[in-house]
Amino acid sequence: MGVTQSLYKNISERVYEFNKSSGNNGVPGIQLILLGIILSILSSSLTLKYLHKQKFKSSIKPLPAKLANNKERRWGHWKPEAFKAPIPKPYPDWDFKTTRPIPYRAFKHKYFVNMGIRSMDWNEWIELDNEWQKYHDLKLHRIATKNEQLYGTEPEARPAALELLNEFYQYLPNRYPKLFKQTTIGLDNLVTGESFNFFDHPLQEDPMLMIAKLIQDDIAVMVEAEDGNYYLKAGAIMLAGFWRLKDKLHLCLSDIHTSGDVPKYSTHLKAGMEKFFQRQTCDKPVVRNNYFIQTDNNLAWSDSIGDESNDSIGWYTAPKVKNIENCYFRSERQSVRRLPISGAMIFTVRTYFLPVEELCKEPFVPRRLFDGINSWDEDVKEYKGYEAFKDILMPYLEKKAKEQEAQGYTIENEKNCYPY
Ligand SMILES: *[C@@H]1O[C@H](CO)[C@@H](O)[C@H](O)[C@H]1NC(C)=O
Repeated sequence: MGVTQSLYKNISERVYEFNKSSGNNGVPGIQLILLGIILSILSSSLTLKYLHKQKFKSSIKPLPAKLANNKERRWGHWKPEAFKAPIPKPYPDWDFKTTRPIPYRAFKHKYFVNMGIRSMDWNEWIELDNEWQKYHDLKLHRIATKNEQLYGTEPEARPAALELLNEFYQYLPNRYPKLFKQTTIGLDNLVTGESFNFFDHPLQEDPMLMIAKLIQDDIAVMVEAEDGNYYLKAGAIMLAGFWRLKDKLHLCLSDIHTSGDVPKYSTHLKAGMEKFFQRQTCDKPVVRNNYFIQTDNNLAWSDSIGDESNDSIGWYTAPKVKNIENCYFRSERQSVRRLPISGAMIFTVRTYFLPVEELCKEPFVPRRLFDGINSWDEDVKEYKGYEAFKDILMPYLEKKAKEQEAQGYTIENEKNCYPY
């Protein structure tokens, strides 16, 4: 076991070396071949015996998707693909102080349970704005108090985590050149002065921890196993509001959702989602949005449902909210993409958070939100904590909707442009 693990580590660091050189100046052929061999082995469950058998048989290097033929792969045996994510354009006029959060208002008059995915523009993989500092400070505070409960990288996900660092190395300084700068050892944050070393042997910090400090999102790495399921094997879950990494680590997609009581998961979502994960190709990233009502102002952890360290909590332990000032609109923008070398699936969750009273100043919002919530089925209501806020929120939305309708903001005048 010890030998396997140190081998693993060794290999991971060499994969990293590859990432470093490809980040800077293209990939020498011999390293590519080495990497191909290493990764083809790593992507399956690794044993020394297997390593010896495979090392000489395969001459694998990252191949064009067609040749890699991952469509026909045995589960858990992803072949490295030569795909490279396009270099993003700089975010137009992005500014640390003035770029406002994107106002996703991802609710419709009628609520549907479905995956609701759209294709993602590569430029928009990670969204940063003038709340970056707030999110960052909150994360640092969380790290200081909870540390390793919030992030981690299991051995199965280490190659993916290192590959992911390389993705950020490319993406962030190109998309947000006023915030990030590439250095020979990683990334510098031009505003905070933080410096991240991606290429140390061994790394000084967990790769997921470094990633958490770079972006506003939470992030999770799902690794395909030989049973065809995707398991949560690395992540940084710091501001999730209602769930904890420790509850979901090592679980597969389906158990993650059923343990969270996601409504209609088995009947409406499971089959489609599993198929989607298995078939997802590297060049087709997707995004989706969702929304919740929260009854406190704590972005990181909704303490109105209970203490974060308490395992017996949920909406069922939440008291009824007493006033509209304590109602918050919480909305996630999630992305899912597959990494080409490791084949791991990368799930990002960016949370947007604002008081319902602010939200309701926007045209058409109160009626649409009222209708949307009103159309939740019983199981959705239970999942989203309807009982805890309905007596305060619904009359408020109704009142605001009527005020707006008197001014002409009626359904008939509303444009349909989800997610708004
Ligand atoms: C956990 O939360 C429940 C519900 O609020 C409470 O009854 C229980 O005492 C809590 N347990 C601990 C250990 O704090």
